[in-house]
This record gives sequence, C-alpha cells and structure tokens, in this order.
Amino acid sequence: MANSIRKFIPKPVKKSLLTMTKVLNIAKVTLKSWRRRKVLGKHIQNYILEKFFDPNIGKEYGISKQTKTDLVKMFRLIPTKVQTATNWLYYVHMATVIFNISKKQKGDVIECGCWKGGSSAILSLICKEVGRKLIIADSFEGIPEDDDKHGHFYTHLSVLGYYEKGMYGGSMEEVKNNIGQYGKIKVCQFVKGFYKDSLKKFKKPLVFAFLDVDLRSSLEDSVKYIWSNLSDGSFIYTDDSCDMDVVKFWFDENWWKKNLKQKAPGYVGSGCGLPITPEYSSLGYTRKIKNAEKIFKRKNWFNG
Ligand SMILES: C[S@@+](CC[C@H](N)C(=O)[O-])C[C@H]1O[C@@H](n2cnc3c(N)ncnc32)[C@H](O)[C@@H]1O
Repeated sequence: MANSIRKFIPKPVKKSLLTMTKVLNIAKVTLKSWRRRKVLGKHIQNYILEKFFDPNIGKEYGISKQTKTDLVKMFRLIPTKVQTATNWLYYVHMATVIFNISKKQKGDVIECGCWKGGSSAILSLICKEVGRKLIIADSFEGIPEDDDKHGHFYTHLSVLGYYEKGMYGGSMEEVKNNIGQYGKIKVCQFVKGFYKDSLKKFKKPLVFAFLDVDLRSSLEDSVKYIWSNLSDGSFIYTDDSCDMDVVKFWFDENWWKKNLKQKAPGYVGSGCGLPITPEYSSLGYTRKIKNAEKIFKRKNWFNG
C-alpha cells in the first residue's frame, strides 16, 4: 500500500521528504545526547552537593545545614550579578575543601586573579564562615603581556587560546563594590600590583590558594612568592586546567628545582579538569606536600 502511494509522489517532494527525515533523525540523536548530558550533569552536581552537605564537613566550625543552603544560594546568584569566568559548582567543591581544613591550622586564604570580584565575593563568604581572611592579589588593571605568542593549547577542547594585555581588567573600586554588595568585605585584604613586584615580600601564613591568572608567567610569579607561606598539605586550586601550556608549569622540574628547591608537585586535572561537569572543567589542583608520611595514607600495592 505504502509503496503504491509512493509511486504517485513527485520526485522533488520525495527528495524533500527524505531530507526532512534525515534532519529529524539528527535532531532526535542530538536531543537524546543533550538529555543524557543533562542527566549526567545533574548526577555530578548532586554528588558534589552531597559531599558539601555531609554533616562532618564544617563541623569543627559549627557550620549548619541552613548556612550551607544559604551559601549555595549565593554561589548560584553571584555569577548572575557579577561577570565571572567560573562555575558556581567550583565554589561548592572548594568550600568543601576549605571547611575541611582543621581549625588548628592557622592561616588565611589567598586569591590571585579576581577580575570584577565575583569569585572574591564568593570566597569571602566561605572565609567568613571559617574565620579566615581572604587576601585578594591583583593588578586591578588586567593581565600583563603574554609571552606565549604561539597561542595556548586547549587540546581537550581543540581550541587555540589567545590573550591580550589588559584583558580581564577590573578596578579596585569595582571589585570592592561587588564584594560589598554580595560578599563580606570585612574579611578581605587587598594586594595591588603585578605579582613580580606586589608579592615579592608577601609574608603571611596561608592554608589555601585559588589562582586564576591565565598566563604561565603570572602563575610563576605568584607561586614563586606565595609557596613558602603555604602550610604543609595546603591545596592550591587553579582555574586553568585545560590550558596545556599553563599546566606544564606544575611539572617543570627545572623551574621548581631552580626557584623553590623541590620536586615539581604535578597537577590533578591536567588537560580536562576535575569531573565537575560532564565534558570538562577548568578547575584543578595541586598540593604542597612536605611530609608525605603525615599527609597521605600509606598503601602498599600488590606485588605479583
Ligand atoms: C580570568 S581573570 C580572574 C577571574 C576571576 N577569578 C573570576 O572568576 O571572576 C584573571 C585575573 O588575573 C589578574 N592577573 C593576571 N596576571 C597577573 C599578574 N601578573 N599580576 C597581577 N594580576 C594578574 C588579572 O588582572 C585578572 O583580574
């Protein structure tokens, strides 16, 4: 029956019906994979939130479930109000890490790279809960000239990224206003200038760092001066995990030996970031480990 009808359909109509069927099939497959991605994203999100809401996280600081709920609301709200290059879930993850630092460990949190202060506002809310200061170090006039003229390899994303001097500029006044409006300005201290000068004499105990500075040279300049201030076991998060040219820094044995007289610490999340969204994230971390026996659990792998 269908075949006999098909005989009477003019050729051009048949052709467009065929094209339409093809397009519909592609749309069906795309929709299916979009739905799967969404479901997977939701599972990951719930997993990260579940960890954050674990009653043991923040217990030492007396952080309640209600406080955590209010914080998550702010983590979601602030990026809609202040331009930021990060995802709200990154902060849920980092807050989990910060709330888990022992109260006995004295020291502050440092953020290198604040742009308009969106990330700073969120970090300041986290710092307030644990009674630590947030040190915000930035030029407040954007990034300096990039030495990497060939472009940055984002291999996992098939992207070649370029930066220009002055990008991500935010004035101190703008940053302070945004933190004042959405965060806790009282816990913030500011270090103004390019890191090669501004952090040279930096001396303050630190327990956590968030570096979002885009360039390899900026990473070198900031790490060189803050490293000795970080306590043993500290987490150093960065927002440049997909940038292979920047990530290489954490594995550059020559640089680490010459500048900090230690082995390169490596980087967790190199090339594709921590599993915070299904395809990639720009968040990754390293740790300052002086006494591995004290920080890590000992594990003897099977032998044969
Ligand atoms: C991508 S933005 C930070 C984004 C911010 N964390 C957010 O999520 O909204 C990079 C920041 O790093 C700062 N920066 C980069 N290199 C620097 C350097 N060598 N000295 C001082 N500031 C620097 C820039 O001024 C800019 O504010």
